[in-house]
Amino acid sequence: NKILFNNQITARERFIDIEDRGYQFGDGIYEVIGVYDGKPFLLEEHLLRLKRSAKEVHLQLPEKIEKIKGNLEKLVQVNELVEGIIYLQISRGTAARWHEFPSPEVSPVMVAYTRAEQRMSNVEDEGAIATLTEDIRWLRCDIKTLNLLPNVLAKQKAVEQNAIEAILHRGETVTEASASNVFMVRNEEVYTHPANNFILNGITRQQVLQLCNKLGIRVKEKPFNIKEMLQAEEVFITATKLDIVPILKVDQHTIASGNPGDITKKILHEFRKLYQ
Ligand code: PDD
Repeated sequence: NKILFNNQITARERFIDIEDRGYQFGDGIYEVIGVYDGKPFLLEEHLLRLKRSAKEVHLQLPEKIEKIKGNLEKLVQVNELVEGIIYLQISRGTAARWHEFPSPEVSPVMVAYTRAEQRMSNVEDEGAIATLTEDIRWLRCDIKTLNLLPNVLAKQKAVEQNAIEAILHRGETVTEASASNVFMVRNEEVYTHPANNFILNGITRQQVLQLCNKLGIRVKEKPFNIKEMLQAEEVFITATKLDIVPILKVDQHTIASGNPGDITKKILHEFRKLYQ
């Protein structure tokens, strides 16, 4: 399997400098892009978000978006990837370790690789359980940065409880999950946290909102609290590759009847048409 290193598609035996700022500070940004039937899914949307993340952390993208797009498509082809993901990260570069930006400026380091992964159709159809954890992250969760320690700790806690995800709450408000967005259905309306600094505006989330519009399902981008979620008619999470997963139980609380809900199933059915 080849990787993309800056502008070159090359062998994987590359090493990152011990003074790469991504490695030392988590000073960089990333994207995870799904690949279905050999085609990157929603690649342009992911790259637009990458561009926004770069701008928010004052990082100069090493290449034009169009060039990165072409290189990623080439990487998928070279690796003959059919089902899986592309991981892309850009760090601020390599320089002596001082917290401030390197001066004189250094070039960012861009790395991308592909990984074969099965579709998660089973869990999407059958649903899963989640756990609740306090959201201890910073106040710019809208930026897709390499700094993921709170997310790592939350996900580990979920895994130790055989849960698929850790749903995060700030005070009583449900924000999102450790690596996905959270939705609930109440009075047949779909609720999700507004896309502000407290959540990552998921590409899957944005697609789901568009599909709801298309299906005539009413949507409220409005924060909801833990109690409202536990009493909801349906709860589901969304992310790249996970797509849409019904949440049947949150810790010991069963959501409604404990089965995937009708609105969730309807959205999932429509979502699958986007890549099939
Ligand atoms: N995570 N919220 C957080 C905190 C995330 O890390 C992710 C994605 C999402 C969903 O975004 P999208 O629909 O664009 O994948 C929401 C990726 C998959 C990851 O870190 O592996």
